[in-house]
Amino acid sequence: MKALILVGGFGTRLRPLTLSVPKPLVEFANKPMILHQIEALKVIGVTEVVLAINYQPEVMLNFLKEFETKLEIKITCSQETEPLGTAGPLALARDKLIDDSGEPFFVLNSDVISEYPLKQMIDFHKAHGGEASIMVTKVDEPSKYGVVVMEESTGKVERFVEKPKIFVGNKINAGIYLLNPSVIDRIELRPTSIEKEVFPKIAADNKLYAMVLPGFWMDIGQPRDYIVGLRLYLDSLKKNSSSKLATGPHIVGNVLVDETAKIGEGCLIGPDVAIGPGCIVESGVRLSRCSVMRGVYIKKHACISSSIIGWHSTVGRWARVENMTILGEDVQVCDEIYSNGGVVLPHKEIKSSILKPEIVM
Ligand code: GDD
Ligand code: MG
Repeated sequence: MKALILVGGFGTRLRPLTLSVPKPLVEFANKPMILHQIEALKVIGVTEVVLAINYQPEVMLNFLKEFETKLEIKITCSQETEPLGTAGPLALARDKLIDDSGEPFFVLNSDVISEYPLKQMIDFHKAHGGEASIMVTKVDEPSKYGVVVMEESTGKVERFVEKPKIFVGNKINAGIYLLNPSVIDRIELRPTSIEKEVFPKIAADNKLYAMVLPGFWMDIGQPRDYIVGLRLYLDSLKKNSSSKLATGPHIVGNVLVDETAKIGEGCLIGPDVAIGPGCIVESGVRLSRCSVMRGVYIKKHACISSSIIGWHSTVGRWARVENMTILGEDVQVCDEIYSNGGVVLPHKEIKSSILKPEIVM
């Protein structure tokens, strides 16, 4: 079986992290986002993953070469010369996706995280006999997603409305699809949207089916959702493989600590924290609801909450970093500084406090 992951887009909503690496390579719970997906695809027997890409293909491919061997899965790129949207890339990768087997293939948005119940999706797809299956999930604020109206008993999709302005329903497209090869015949090789131009037509032909995704789901393409997603992911890890979580008197709730990270005396860490490889956390530090990327140095008595600390940054003694502060790569926050929602570009030194949410260039 094959799969295509949509990895285009510039990841602007996840800046400044995406100034250093393409969005799918930004770590989530200590692992590049896209690896969560490739591993899940491998588990259910996918043998080839096509990355539909429109910028920085070298960075992505160099990185993934290593995992091709480790995971024993073929990873290839289908490179656009202009952004083809969410459907055009399927037409472009036609020859890679379709073979004599006539099997359906998976398509994934690169920024969605879940338990990826892909095996269940295959069974669902076989059972309904339609042309395409999509995974849906319930959310409180459907307007920023694609909304699906479906027949509850069969899953048959009656309407698909991308980013509706008025309320149509609260089940939304989770960005995980299983499509028959014939779907590609519906797509022209030009910039086009699967959500706006393809799904509504398949639905009109009564051949689009939706399965309610069991377990958690989040689009982690923006900081606030990334932090919420981390909580949901760690909750699910706690249920399914709790031995991966850190334990000890200094840990509160669900915390993931890379084995090469060093944690000092008298810290209080958690809930919902991920600490990446090579990090040094000195004594008396307080961390909650945050992601600390590889090689970060947190000095004594610093306090970080609801924030993302980019690779190789330093947070000074007694510093207080909170409220969706996002530090890019290699940022130095000096001692005793306060950051309230600062979004700091890579390689900056912060010498005076950031009192209200703002971008520091
Ligand atoms: N190759 C390629 N080329 N990929 C692209 C392009 C492009 O021109 N434009 C976007 N993508 C990729 C993005 O990298 C992402 O993986 C996926 O397509 C969806 O784009 P987003 O920009 O993240 O869309 P969204 O989050 O606003 O909405 C989509 O996802 C929601 C779920 O998170 C839609 O599919 C919604 O219907 C859905 O509910
Ligand atoms: Mg998205």
